[in-house]
Amino acid sequence: MKKLVFATNNEYKLSEVRAILEPDFNIISLAELNCFDDIPETATTLEGNALIKAKYIHDKFGFDCFADDTGLEVDALNGEPGVYSARYAGDANCAHENMCKVLEKLGDNTNRKACFRTVIALIQGEEITYFEGKIDGNIATQPRGNSGFGYDPIFVPENYFVSFAQLSAEEKNQISHRALAVKELVNYLQIEKKKSLAL
Ligand code: IMP
Repeated sequence: MKKLVFATNNEYKLSEVRAILEPDFNIISLAELNCFDDIPETATTLEGNALIKAKYIHDKFGFDCFADDTGLEVDALNGEPGVYSARYAGDANCAHENMCKVLEKLGDNTNRKACFRTVIALIQGEEITYFEGKIDGNIATQPRGNSGFGYDPIFVPENYFVSFAQLSAEEKNQISHRALAVKELVNYLQIEKKKSLAL
């Protein structure tokens, strides 16, 4: 079983990704590496931040590794909060305050189109590869539901009448931005595995 470090400390993300990748891959968390470093996310793009995180772990521990970065992009807010999603309302990364800021800035704007976009950067040896997953939807007028995390209560995926936070973890995992990006990653890893077996 191939070992891969997922450079995250977010338990929700870890279980979402493990549910998709295991049992084919052994996903090692940062906690299991005893790494609790606050990796600075100083890039201005999702790609840049995903690479910073993956490279930090790869350089420090020498393991093949992937990291993700996600942003909620709201059309009527010119793509905000985007790469600044975690700290949109301040350094505390408070989901409630972040959601309130989006709702306040949108006001009664009828254009509530938005998407979640995830970029994964995978580092294997010297090779860097990017994967992307995106889901379109709309911003609800108020938070709904208690599952998930972050902006889930105000994001209603396209063709749904409920928010991400009203779906079960399994349902969200079928359609989410992160699931789509991880599927791209898995396809790539499986093709690579077949190629190496054929050699
Ligand atoms: P990260 O860079 O992937 O940690 O994501 C940045 C921020 O985007 C998080 O702090 C959350 O506020 C938000 N976010 C990321 N993924 C999700 C999700 O699946 N649902 C809701 N919010 C998310």
